[in-house]
Amino acid sequence: MLSRKVASQLKEIETPFYLYDINLLRQTLESVVYESNKYNYKVHYAIKANNDDYLLSIIKEYGIGIDCASGNEVRKAIEMGFDPKTVVYAGVGKKDKEIRYALEQEILAINCESIEELQVVDALAAQMGKKADVGLRVNPDIDPKTNHCIDTGQADSKFGISYDEILENVELIQSLKNINIIGIHIHIGSQIRELHVFENMCNKANAIVEKLESLGFSFRMVDVGGGLGINYDVPENEPIPNFASLFAIVREYLNVGDKEVHFEFGRSIVGECGELIASVLFNKTTATGRRLLIIDASMTELIRPMLYGSYHNIENITSEEEVFKKYTVVGTACESTDVFDENISLKKSKRGDLLAIKSAGAYGRSMASEYNMHELPKAVYSDQLLTK
Ligand code: LLP
Repeated sequence: MLSRKVASQLKEIETPFYLYDINLLRQTLESVVYESNKYNYKVHYAIKANNDDYLLSIIKEYGIGIDCASGNEVRKAIEMGFDPKTVVYAGVGKKDKEIRYALEQEILAINCESIEELQVVDALAAQMGKKADVGLRVNPDIDPKTNHCIDTGQADSKFGISYDEILENVELIQSLKNINIIGIHIHIGSQIRELHVFENMCNKANAIVEKLESLGFSFRMVDVGGGLGINYDVPENEPIPNFASLFAIVREYLNVGDKEVHFEFGRSIVGECGELIASVLFNKTTATGRRLLIIDASMTELIRPMLYGSYHNIENITSEEEVFKKYTVVGTACESTDVFDENISLKKSKRGDLLAIKSAGAYGRSMASEYNMHELPKAVYSDQLLTK
């Protein structure tokens, strides 16, 4: 873990901030590119996980595409120089101006999430004199065995079009003359650690593709989304996620002939390379005996623990104490739920010590807010730091 190694340099920097380990990011990108090339799989980076310009410029060097969830994310990808033909765009509620922008940029695929959206894309494409390349985002009804807050592919979810609804509307979809249905898209959820779940996803995808092609569709790609989980418990044990195993499963179970297979990884690419660094402000004990460690970050820098009950490993990287104590680590925001973790063991901590909140590269800074008029968190990159 980088922060521990460079702790003395970090003491000079105003907290809180995100520290990004650029070497680890590069190694992770090398791994995903190397492993995906074995099967000629196409990889997109899910920009929602972290839209930092410097990280994006590095990601771009590795030749992968971008997965977007809004028009502004599409714009960011294009402005950062990603080839529009490597950009895919999903989202249940695309606004007309967002659809128009994606059409104008002629991105690889607009992944549509309702029958009505398909009709709107068709109509807007007609107005613009274009033919839109579109993916059908199908809700596959799969339990991804992850935190319920971040599953997306179960029957009742807002994401994707139900398979039944697609079957009921085949004729209508095929009558839309200004869209080209180039593939299907499935994304079952995030932080998936039980990889056998992806076997189910492949089996469902096989059946869906076979059935829809028998009804007259002809697909050239299958996009199986993202979701590969990372090791939040002991990040040091697994700094680079196991892309090889996931690809091997998809290779074995997905039978879609020579169609292109696409992935959209967010967390697995940037999750482990980021840490949130914060300083201890105060110690205090509640009347009930809870020892609180108040740090100068909060849910405005990293909301995952408060929003989803997510676990992030926390370490005091500057304390020289031998003794460990139990602490509840809380933030500065005016919210009772602004708690990073409860009753965790940390080296005895005092005002000014630095804490590292690990595995915070994904859905950390990109979900930051200005609540309580906090400033948005700054970033420090390891390569700048180490060359100082
Ligand atoms: N593709 C689609 C269509 C998605 O909705 C997502 C994530 C991804 C790809 C990337 O998934 P990943 O590889 O990162 O698992 N804020 C939550 C996670 C929300 C995920 C949203 N969709 C968190 O902090 O855990």
